[in-house]
Amino acid sequence: MISMGITQSDIVGIMATNTSYVMTVSFAAFFIGTPFQAIDISLEKESVLHLWNITKPKLIFCDGAIYKVVSEVVNELDLQCNIFTLSNHQTGVENIETILKIETTEVSTFKPFAISDLDATAALCCSSGSSGPSKVVCWSHRFIKRYCLPLLNGSSSDIILNAFSLYWSVGIREYISAALNEATLVVPYKFDAKEMLSLIEKYQVTKCLLVPVHIAQMLSCQEIHTINLSSMKIIQSTGAKLTIDLKNRLRQFLPPSCIIKSTYGCSEMAGMAYEHQDSLFILHPNIEAKILCLNTNKEQNTDEEGEIAIRHKTSWCGYYNDEKATRQVYKDGWYRTGDLGHFDSNKYLHIKSRIKDIIRLELFDISPLEIESEIMKMTEVVLVVVVGIPDELKWNRLAALVVKRPDSKITAVDIQNHVASRKPEYKHLNGGVYFVESVPTTATGKVSRRLATERGIELYNGKQNDTN
Ligand SMILES: *[C@@H]1O[C@H](CO)[C@@H](O)[C@H](O)[C@H]1NC(C)=O
Ligand SMILES: *[C@@H]1O[C@H](CO)[C@@H](O)[C@H](O)[C@H]1NC(C)=O
Ligand SMILES: *[C@@H]1O[C@H](CO)[C@@H](O)[C@H](O)[C@H]1NC(C)=O
Repeated sequence: MISMGITQSDIVGIMATNTSYVMTVSFAAFFIGTPFQAIDISLEKESVLHLWNITKPKLIFCDGAIYKVVSEVVNELDLQCNIFTLSNHQTGVENIETILKIETTEVSTFKPFAISDLDATAALCCSSGSSGPSKVVCWSHRFIKRYCLPLLNGSSSDIILNAFSLYWSVGIREYISAALNEATLVVPYKFDAKEMLSLIEKYQVTKCLLVPVHIAQMLSCQEIHTINLSSMKIIQSTGAKLTIDLKNRLRQFLPPSCIIKSTYGCSEMAGMAYEHQDSLFILHPNIEAKILCLNTNKEQNTDEEGEIAIRHKTSWCGYYNDEKATRQVYKDGWYRTGDLGHFDSNKYLHIKSRIKDIIRLELFDISPLEIESEIMKMTEVVLVVVVGIPDELKWNRLAALVVKRPDSKITAVDIQNHVASRKPEYKHLNGGVYFVESVPTTATGKVSRRLATERGIELYNGKQNDTN
């Protein structure tokens, strides 16, 4: 990378499935003090354009299977950028093997970049984009050192199973933590419930980080009854609430000493709190929180609900090249989480829900507006509300309530196909499309997403009953 002219002010882009090469190139970037930004391969071209238009990487590593998309993005953004494939190498395209074959004398004498400014950006990750397009979050060296490493409480005897790519803040944390604790990291290409179970047994995995939908998917595999999970010491659940039911169902397959830990965090602040008992959270050390009134922004008293604001002892570097968005969420050193909650008299933090309109789909948070504006491009649609139908194995299934023109012959399948041909699979309307006379509104005449969701669930359940 140094001989390619990459410096600390550049960005290295990675868009690849998990392989050991991903570890190689991300750590190479770390060692020369150049931040890397990874993008999950499931993202559509539009999102990649958006993200790399913000960071403008100078060097990109990608899977051969998505080389075409990556090179289109590079051309459209007119990036002066070399692309190397990490897998499925294509003829005529440079690949990682050629770099690794280069014999340099520098290797034996190489000294990692000495970090003089601990507040410089070390890595970039993405925030979910619940309010508009996703943003690029800066993590400083200090932030990583102080907040990402101690959380896992790792040791060199740990065998950590991590299916998250470096696109996810938890993926970055697992990679760095495993390396610095000299633990063994077991990395599947991607999450597959059945494979995860067999990897635990095969490699005697001790720690594993999962989101609740993945736990549900593993529990619905036949193999869970036969595979020996006795090596497990800690399962950490993150990303959303792990229900007691799911936790209890998981518990019966684990050794009694295995701890199931639920945590609360976000890309911007990493881990913030962990669950003490059902829905009662305790803040991590070095983290302070207060509750702000949604109307007045004043600090709330005990038991009063409001937006959770978080403060770290380490200041946050903000969103990459986006001071305006940074100022919006980060006021006077307090980060606005966008989550609703309260403290009780025992100082436990109760986390209730998101304030903004988002629908979580497996690992992704999406704004219903994105799908709605796509459907509104169909001239026969008068009004649409997209809602999430809760589903244990997917988190939510997207469904649409549609008001169509009176004379329209448009069908539910037309609308599903319209979305399916324009959006990646996880954004498809697999909860169905329902034609309605009108959509539920609030007293002030605005679309009520809460009521629309209730209506969507009724219609979805009705359809399930019809087919049974
Ligand atoms: C990239 O960002 C610039 C500045 O914000 C904007 O004008 C341009 O349209 C963007 N390009 C693409 C392809 O999104
Ligand atoms: C970390 O490990 C130590 C020693 O094994 C243990 O006493 C402590 O409770 C652990 N902390 C957490 C947060 O898991
Ligand atoms: C599971 O594996 C452990 C350790 O490898 C072993 O001691 C135990 O007997 C196994 N349990 C079953 C039910 O095979």
